[in-house]
Amino acid sequence: MLWAAAPLPIPSLFDPLSRPADEIYVLSLLVLGVCAAIFVVVGGLLAYAVVRFRQRPGDADREPPQVYGSNQIELAWTVLPLLIVFVLFLVTTRTLIAIENAEPPADALEVRVIGHQWWWEFRYPEQGVVTANELHVPAGRATFLTLESADVVHSFWVPQLNGKTDVIPNRVNRMWIEPREPGLYLGQCAEFCGTQHAKMFLRVIAHPEAEFAAWVAAQTGEAVNDPAVRAGRDIFQSVACVNCHRIGGTVGAGVFGPDLTHLMSRDTIAAGAAANTPEMLRAWIVNPDAIKPGALMPAMQLEPTDLDHLVAYLTTLK
Ligand code: CUA
Repeated sequence: MLWAAAPLPIPSLFDPLSRPADEIYVLSLLVLGVCAAIFVVVGGLLAYAVVRFRQRPGDADREPPQVYGSNQIELAWTVLPLLIVFVLFLVTTRTLIAIENAEPPADALEVRVIGHQWWWEFRYPEQGVVTANELHVPAGRATFLTLESADVVHSFWVPQLNGKTDVIPNRVNRMWIEPREPGLYLGQCAEFCGTQHAKMFLRVIAHPEAEFAAWVAAQTGEAVNDPAVRAGRDIFQSVACVNCHRIGGTVGAGVFGPDLTHLMSRDTIAAGAAANTPEMLRAWIVNPDAIKPGALMPAMQLEPTDLDHLVAYLTTLK
């Protein structure tokens, strides 16, 4: 992502910053430790056998002694792996249940997440906020997510906040995050969902409480209606944009594409595939395929002046 002025944080599983991610991190250390021990034992025995029992001069025609039916050895290599797998099964199940059965505390924020080919819709039912691709949440407080899909299977994954949860058509899944520190957390759709699966990025922005309240306040209400860009607003309302996009206060009420009412409050467009700048907005409207081949948004065949007006209008939607 070339436009990022500051280096983007690395979305590492080994740098958890949220309660469910902490538990997954501890579990992953245990699993990695057990696997490393098995690797050392098996690798060590193998290396020993290769060196100790390799062919030596004069061995050419002799069969090594053949060993059959050692009860001790058979028992050892049956029971030990069974025990190891059983222990891993128990601790994994305990972690899964602890994460999945969490009851939302009274102060938890509720957000509906809807996966689309290839972007994320976020709806805040209590706040009346609808946004896309950039999930804003308070830091230090739990956010419970209801995950639904508008089309195919996706998977919501922000490694520093929680594990993957699939987003499945005709099914509602639940998960929660609780970022400890304000900041930007990166994620990604983690289930192959079509050509632009790789450009179905996720951004979670955790704010201190007061800043989050200010963000919510800025996201409510209808779109800015600046008379200076009236021409662009008219173009938005008269071409096919309105079939897919909503802008509060205009005739545009489409639900197939992101809600653009507060478009300019986002850092990125196209689910994180491009920076939200006038140049990229323009490039996106002219030919979405150039940024995301296969994107479901059609290339809008606009006259250059109409395009200028439309982009000028969009950039007022704070
Ligand atoms: Cu959505 Cu992969």
